[in-house]
Amino acid sequence: MSTIGVIAGDGVGPEVVRHGLAALDVVAHRHGLVFDRVPFDLGAERYLRTGEVLPDSVMEELRKCDVLYLGAVGDPRVPPGVLEKGLLLKLRFGFHQYINLRPVRLYPGVETPIKGKGPSDIDMVVVRENNEDLYVGAGGFTYKGTPEEVAIQTSINTRAGVERCLRYAFNLARTRAVARVFGALSQADRDSGKRGQVTLVAKTNVLTFAHDLWMRAFTEVSRDYPEIKPDYNHVDACCMRMVTNPERYDVIATTNMFGDIITDLGAVLQGGMGLAASGNLNPDRTAPSMFEPVHGSAPDIAGKGIANPIAAILSAAMMLDHLEAAAAADDLRRAVAQVLNSKGPRTPDLGGTATTNDVGNAVLAALGG
Ligand code: NAD
Ligand code: IPM
Ligand code: MN
Repeated sequence: MSTIGVIAGDGVGPEVVRHGLAALDVVAHRHGLVFDRVPFDLGAERYLRTGEVLPDSVMEELRKCDVLYLGAVGDPRVPPGVLEKGLLLKLRFGFHQYINLRPVRLYPGVETPIKGKGPSDIDMVVVRENNEDLYVGAGGFTYKGTPEEVAIQTSINTRAGVERCLRYAFNLARTRAVARVFGALSQADRDSGKRGQVTLVAKTNVLTFAHDLWMRAFTEVSRDYPEIKPDYNHVDACCMRMVTNPERYDVIATTNMFGDIITDLGAVLQGGMGLAASGNLNPDRTAPSMFEPVHGSAPDIAGKGIANPIAAILSAAMMLDHLEAAAAADDLRRAVAQVLNSKGPRTPDLGGTATTNDVGNAVLAALGG
């Protein structure tokens, strides 16, 4: 049995998490998996009611779970950063989830805005460092609110933190290369003829301290993976090439800040925020990993019942992968692929008029549940 701590959170979070859990129930039953779900009341409502964001006692309850499943946090009634830093980043850092894994994969039947590109062109995984960089919250103000004000926000990069991220990326490229050879991936994956490659995305031409460290670590780590091609792009050029030549990417390794930015671009390549899934991984398994859509609480559509639940469902599939239930994860992804590749219901972000429930139910139907 595995315990799933559920943080539905704010805005569309609860609307999409419901469908991820329903789909999980169906595949769990089929594969003889038993999940105990523990809901956690965290997010804007709790903060506005009690002033609490994430008390240490709740952190300790969350730590007892095998995995965490999160919808989204953030609310226009709460000042920026209170929930994002106090809840989401506290979990990512506190549980040493040092990898943020964000696959960018275009499913057949989904339109990408990139002209002339299809599923065999858009299949990469971003390995975003998740515990360092500008996100550590190092900095402060002096003379705040005066004309002499100084604000400092420091990017922290440790050799050990960078290296473990890069090793994760090279191992992933190796796994993907092997899967391609043995045909464990789709026909499109095989047709792409890609061999394993890791692209470091950084800004070595300007950040000559922090990204010099990244580049030296990258060069050294790459020597342990002679069959994987090391590749480098400056982040600005990467943004251009993700649009003009997405097929050139296999695994991208990058910093926390750049990874945040390029994965919203990646989400668009694969059909939008409604489809992009992610996992915050603690690869050492010393604390729970956490799975969540890349998107936020989407206040502009919250409460309307039209959020796309697929990003949340695909994040649940990544959670199953982490729980070593690969067959169940594949079932979920196959059901999503079937819905997306049919004339089935689509939420407005994919140009349709369907509701969140319509799409969630279509995935359940495709699962045969
Ligand atoms: P957002 O991702 O919430 O929304 C960006 C756009 O994508 C919006 O137009 C929204 O309607 C659309 N969108 C998002 N999810 C969708 C879905 N499932 N289906 C269809 N359309 C969807 O980003 P934002 O507006 O910049 O941020 C809103 C709030 O969410 C902020 O408070 C922000 O801090 C927070 N946030 C939280 C997370 C998280 O919890 N992981 C991630 C990003 C942003
Ligand atoms: C994401 C979000 C978060 C991030 C915010 C809400 C802290 O944008 O998960 O991509 O910047 O990592
Ligand atoms: Mn983001």
